[in-house]
Amino acid sequence: MRSPDTPPAKGWGSGALSSAAADLRRRFPTVAHLETRARRRMPRFAYDFVAGGVGEDIGLAQNRVAMGAIRLLPRYGRDVAQVNTEVTLFGRSYAMPVGIAPMGLAGLGWPGADEILARAAQAARIPYVSSTVANAPLERLAALAPDVFWFQLYNLPGADFAVARAIIARAEAAGAHALVLTVDVPARQKRPRDVRNGLSVPFRPGLRTALDVARAPLWAWATLRRGQPRFENFLPYLEEPPGTAALATFAYHRMAGPLTWEAIARFRDLWPRALVIKGILHPDDAERAVAIGADGILVSNHGGRQLDAAPAAIDMLPAIAERVAGRATLLLDGGVHSGLDVLRGLALGAAATFAGRAFLFGAAALGERGGDHVAALFAEEIRAGMMQLGAANLAEAAEIAALHPGAVALPAPSRPRAAAWSAA
Ligand SMILES: Cc1cc2nc3c(=O)[nH]c(=O)nc-3n(C[C@H](O)[C@H](O)[C@H](O)COP(=O)(O)O)c2cc1C
Repeated sequence: MRSPDTPPAKGWGSGALSSAAADLRRRFPTVAHLETRARRRMPRFAYDFVAGGVGEDIGLAQNRVAMGAIRLLPRYGRDVAQVNTEVTLFGRSYAMPVGIAPMGLAGLGWPGADEILARAAQAARIPYVSSTVANAPLERLAALAPDVFWFQLYNLPGADFAVARAIIARAEAAGAHALVLTVDVPARQKRPRDVRNGLSVPFRPGLRTALDVARAPLWAWATLRRGQPRFENFLPYLEEPPGTAALATFAYHRMAGPLTWEAIARFRDLWPRALVIKGILHPDDAERAVAIGADGILVSNHGGRQLDAAPAAIDMLPAIAERVAGRATLLLDGGVHSGLDVLRGLALGAAATFAGRAFLFGAAALGERGGDHVAALFAEEIRAGMMQLGAANLAEAAEIAALHPGAVALPAPSRPRAAAWSAA
């Protein structure tokens, strides 16, 4: 007889894994284990760039603290023999409700990370969001992830948005399923770790940087082979000879200022498929996004990289869900490290969640196999979590009762500014 702890012969248990996958699962059973290994393999400045946040890293920490504070109430005695994790987003079906968040300069974290993660997303059939400032052209990433490809756009206001419009047309031609407009970078912010490390693109090897790189031989070798990471999407628009420095200068000068609602409305008219607004924290902004015709809202504090005083994204999710539920698809990112975190997001109103650092640390820890392993961890944990909680599908997962001590509720509509001043 099988003991209750023996994994089933089929399904998610390690008994069903290939020996290589089982070995990875034994050595790296969580994202935290991958981060520890990634840290050892990356130069210090690259690790700091990925792991770090803005200011004092308070907003960054908040995402994890808030996530951990959410309790989920299990329901027992239900039939969960057949667990279905399929999710439909904007008319397309995905294997599970977690995707890969856009990460610019991912190639600094690990050379070739964009390609590694695009391939992993396609293999796992989960959404892959390519960044404007990816280190591979969007067409190449779309070809690697044809069934799951989304594209993220930053503000590029110059010459009446000429470059933005050209990139949107390219994303459409490449088959991007959704366009994700990031609104939470109205200004560049100081990330103290990057300042201290003298991080610049292209990076200039001072003594400290050289020592850092010398301690990370695999990273150094892969970077030598591939060349320094560049902002490949901008290549067609460069007047001067294209080099890493020229592309970085282009990005610095062209990608600037707030993406206004007026500009978003124009992009809405240009883009025929699903439009997602990323970086929303205030329910009024969610309302505005819906009014403009957005299909999705990605509730996010940019992984704690823009505003140190920002609330955790998950703390704003219930208020936003209350305001726009049924009128837009809600998505969440920030501190999603496990299948349970995904289920926390679903229980509080998200249709799906995204993870950034978890996937990039996977790539840095394990190279080519890293994205696949992180996806496998999520798949196993979501399934096991659903069984434990008594949810056989995502509709039932959305019904899980969540105790959420940090939820921020705002009066609707929020108090007019003048009233706030006069009360002071
Ligand atoms: C290294 C790195 C680069 C990022 N670059 C972008 C980007 O180019 N565009 C964007 O919208 N968000 C960017 N983000 C934010 C992520 O899309 C996402 O909101 C955040 O990482 C989620 O938090 P998590 O890392 O805790 O999962 C970046 C995050 C990281 C860690």
